[in-house]
Amino acid sequence: MSESPADVRQSLSLAGQAALVTGASRGIGLAIARALTQAGAAVVMAARKAPGLEAAAAELAAAGGRVLAVAANVSRDQDRRRLVERALAWASRLDILVNNAGANPSYGPLAEVQEAAWDKVFAVNLKASLFLSQLAYRAWMAQHGGAILNVSSLAAYVPTARINAYSVTKAALNHLTACLASEWGPQGVRVNAIAPGLVQTSFSQALWESPEGRRRIQSNPLPRVGRPQDLAGAALLLLSPAGSFITGQCLIVDGGEIIKECGQRGAA
Ligand SMILES: NC(=O)c1ccc[n+]([C@@H]2O[C@H](COP(=O)([O-])OP(=O)(O)OC[C@H]3O[C@@H](n4cnc5c(N)ncnc54)[C@H](OP(=O)(O)O)[C@@H]3O)[C@@H](O)[C@H]2O)c1
Repeated sequence: MSESPADVRQSLSLAGQAALVTGASRGIGLAIARALTQAGAAVVMAARKAPGLEAAAAELAAAGGRVLAVAANVSRDQDRRRLVERALAWASRLDILVNNAGANPSYGPLAEVQEAAWDKVFAVNLKASLFLSQLAYRAWMAQHGGAILNVSSLAAYVPTARINAYSVTKAALNHLTACLASEWGPQGVRVNAIAPGLVQTSFSQALWESPEGRRRIQSNPLPRVGRPQDLAGAALLLLSPAGSFITGQCLIVDGGEIIKECGQRGAA
């Protein structure tokens, strides 16, 4: 089982490791993939649409990163299997998995959510994260150890108007994180999550562009919208030797939004 290096300067290095990042063509996934290449990992980048994915991979390769782009839909079993097979054939190892691809197919109250939308949001945000983790575990990590990062959300912690179906999947993802960490820790596999607040990506554009979203951001302790690169440092901490003794946790990266309500209530 890996331990933190005695010299802290080595602790964020991923030299010699291989990673698979889903949803890596833009937004938070691309920022994490970029950080992993900068830390020295070979990175397999996955997303559904090949053109955007290949452009993102070309950008990281031009900056010196070792990357492979594989178009895949994580909600399909055959795509998940092909992804892990391609990653292992290319890198001969798979030390890191980042389950970042996410969906939010419906806006509105739970009273009106349709069964198809409920199934889809669970398929991408929860089911795919479990079964991709299972594939990586069986194919490599159970024998060699590894680190898995699930991209959750601040919405996992608080009911969030109009996206509560999505928020239920992220709360379940946090518990999946703890359950997998508990099962796989003895094999040297750490499983953690990060929970972003509002981040400026196409995924949440309707939220951060709205007057309500702007008010929400401006009243946060750090009163600005998050940027995808704001998640990269937290991801690297949890995936690198610097995080060797951290497992089963979800690190909230939200500019302090979650403490806002406690602050407004005051002490006691
Ligand atoms: N932005 C926020 O404010 C925010 C806040 C909290 C949590 N998050 C979480 O952060 C994660 C990333 O979101 P983001 O904001 O970076 O979104 P984004 O900019 O829209 O990027 C989403 C990425 O996921 C890919 N993707 C979507 N569905 C996929 C599927 N079924 N299979 C494979 N790839 C898929 C997309 O590419 P293709 O379209 O080509 O597949 C794209 O690369 C999500 O899990 C989201 O829930 C975001």
